[in-house]
Amino acid sequence: MKIFSNPGEMKHELSHCKDREIGFVPTMGALHKGHISLIKKSIAENDITVVSIFVNATQFNDPEDFKKYPNNLDNDINILEPLNVNYLFAPEHNLLYNDNYLYRIIETTFSKELCGAQREGHFEGVLTVVMKLLNIVNPRRAYFGEKDFQQYKLIKGMVEAFHMNVEIIPSPTIRENDGLALSSRNLLLSGEDRKKAAKFPELLMSGQSDKEVNSQLEEEGFKVNYIKTLNGRRFGAVTLGKVRLIDNVKK
Ligand code: PAF
Repeated sequence: MKIFSNPGEMKHELSHCKDREIGFVPTMGALHKGHISLIKKSIAENDITVVSIFVNATQFNDPEDFKKYPNNLDNDINILEPLNVNYLFAPEHNLLYNDNYLYRIIETTFSKELCGAQREGHFEGVLTVVMKLLNIVNPRRAYFGEKDFQQYKLIKGMVEAFHMNVEIIPSPTIRENDGLALSSRNLLLSGEDRKKAAKFPELLMSGQSDKEVNSQLEEEGFKVNYIKTLNGRRFGAVTLGKVRLIDNVKK
């Protein structure tokens, strides 16, 4: 696996692969089985797979949340090596944000709902960094987990709006045995909160109304950010201790 941190050098290297199909899996690291399933899908469907690891400061509305986000590049490299990933792109902040974040991608409607209503500027940061990464890697296909369903929809919408030449491929949420959706943030839960966290998907999947789910979660000690059914899917965001968890299920 070749590792690049300079966007210009990464772009130059991949420009030699024009006759081969590139699959791309963008991540913020702390790789888990959810990422691994996206990576395996990319490897199966493309000639070359590029994984990026970049904890993107512009999508964190809370600097404390950014500081405590799990970050262990050496461990992630050990996970990627045996999977036969061709390239790891782990850009330096200043080189990726060469414009100092003067230029941004903004979606004006869906990005203001659900997580966007709670986390100001979050999707602006996500869309901007994904646009930068797609322009550097220039993949044929890019893979996103459905746990972040709103993110997936917004990225798909951006690619269509800007007539970009990449297919955005969703992949189903991978869950622990007790139903908790895999997330890098799960690592931050205390032992007791980790046990309690399984109630969140259990209630989201239940036949109860959004309002009932909301109040049951509160009774269990969760701080509820939102529980909302939209277009046949129930979305939820909760905080347990200081850890924010999101999930969604088809209704
Ligand atoms: O889902 C994530 O890990 C991030 O939001 C992404 C898509 C890599 C952009 O920073």
